[in-house]
Amino acid sequence: MMKLETAAETPSCLKITDMIRDYAVIQALDSQLGSFCAFLRLSLWLVMTKQLQARRLDGIDHNPWVEFVKLASEADVVNLGQGFPDFPPPDFAVEAFQHAISGDFMLNQYTKAFGYPPLTKILASFFGKLLGQDIDPLKNVLVTVGAYGALFTAFQALVDEGDEVIIIEPFFDCYEPMTLMAGGRPVFVSLKPSPNQDGELDSSSNWQLDPTELASKFTSRTKALILNTPNNPLGKVFSRAELELVASLCQQHDVVCITDEVYQWLVYDGCQHISIATLPGMWERTLTIGSAGKTFSATGWKVGWVLGPDSLLRHLRTVHQNSIFHCPTQGQAAVAQSFEREQLHFGQPSSYFVQLPQAVQRCRDHMMQSLKSVGLKPVVPQGSYFLITDISEFKSKMPNLPGAADEPYDRRFVKWMVKSKGLMAIPVSIFCSVPHQKLFDHYIRFCFMKDESTLQAMDKKLQKWKDELRP
Ligand SMILES: Cc1ncc(COP(=O)(O)O)c(C=O)c1O
Repeated sequence: MMKLETAAETPSCLKITDMIRDYAVIQALDSQLGSFCAFLRLSLWLVMTKQLQARRLDGIDHNPWVEFVKLASEADVVNLGQGFPDFPPPDFAVEAFQHAISGDFMLNQYTKAFGYPPLTKILASFFGKLLGQDIDPLKNVLVTVGAYGALFTAFQALVDEGDEVIIIEPFFDCYEPMTLMAGGRPVFVSLKPSPNQDGELDSSSNWQLDPTELASKFTSRTKALILNTPNNPLGKVFSRAELELVASLCQQHDVVCITDEVYQWLVYDGCQHISIATLPGMWERTLTIGSAGKTFSATGWKVGWVLGPDSLLRHLRTVHQNSIFHCPTQGQAAVAQSFEREQLHFGQPSSYFVQLPQAVQRCRDHMMQSLKSVGLKPVVPQGSYFLITDISEFKSKMPNLPGAADEPYDRRFVKWMVKSKGLMAIPVSIFCSVPHQKLFDHYIRFCFMKDESTLQAMDKKLQKWKDELRP
């Protein structure tokens, strides 16, 4: 039988708030029913003071995103925070979705649990060529609710109580709570910038792992390493040499590589995205994750996928079957048709995967130019749709921005920037483990996947800021 906890055993703030609320409910009942039996009151009190949340949520129930996403809704703020395009997906994708909702009425019904067959088929053939594998749509592909769903399913399927998961920071922030919820232990290793010449802009390619430090993170308990290339928030695209190092350590220590490649089409300056699953000996131990939201600029569709060997995917299917079971059919049909179109145009100037990075690179260059004008120092990203920018100068000039004394500087800076400059970004310390937040608290992240009108609105705000800076 479940043990009832008494108030003395429940120290957390959440618990106390729950108790106050529960007590108020009892009081209300009491006044309505007159002399309510004391015994009943006592037992009700005990029943309602059980620890409500599962222990796997301990330590992860506060999420700073909630606060920062809310800030973006303040009046007259240009939102360059959360990562989504504010322009429409390509016409062929929108038409595919319209066709899915108005065509075959059976697309209103459940489809196959592991993916709508035309989608698993085209994903197998499209990515089979890219990854150099003969991909079986039934065994090597799983369709999920966005890349988020793919990540969650992977962690639940592979990470056991006490297993260690190596996370390269700064990292897409859900990797840590997903490891913890699976009972695993996150082990962090930081990308560090090499010093740049005076006046020179830093580049995300200068941010590297120390090979000795990385090797030291692998132990007999290491179950998985999570890689994200192109990386959010830094925009780093891992080079072949860096991937070879990660691959050789994964093989040496028998570790699974979960690779989040949702921004694979968004690479700039002639840079090349390399999937780690294509390196010798890696397909067998790699889960490659993708997102239609990022691929077709339609983040609300929430269609994602995982590709990998059957030996790994069979465990993800068990989780999927016992949790989500089916993903929405119409979105999958639209993504299938969009990939079919892209397969026909692959590598040609008419391909969305060719046109998109060219257009987004212009947005990146526009934003970098504008940020520099007020003394911010963007780190040039080679991929993704984010860039981080160095705010060290502000940290030394305005160290005492409002906020709690222990609140990382970048969070106070973003709140100040929203309120006084009308510009929204995301503090980079959110993407770091708590012990390392101080190392990264002089950076903020901007999303440049924005319409020209948004970038112009940003320019107006920055111009005002620049005028204030003039002596
Ligand atoms: C690195 C990374 N992985 C996964 C996701 C989630 O993708 P989806 O919207 O398909 O769930 C995001 C979204 O921002 C991301 O930045």
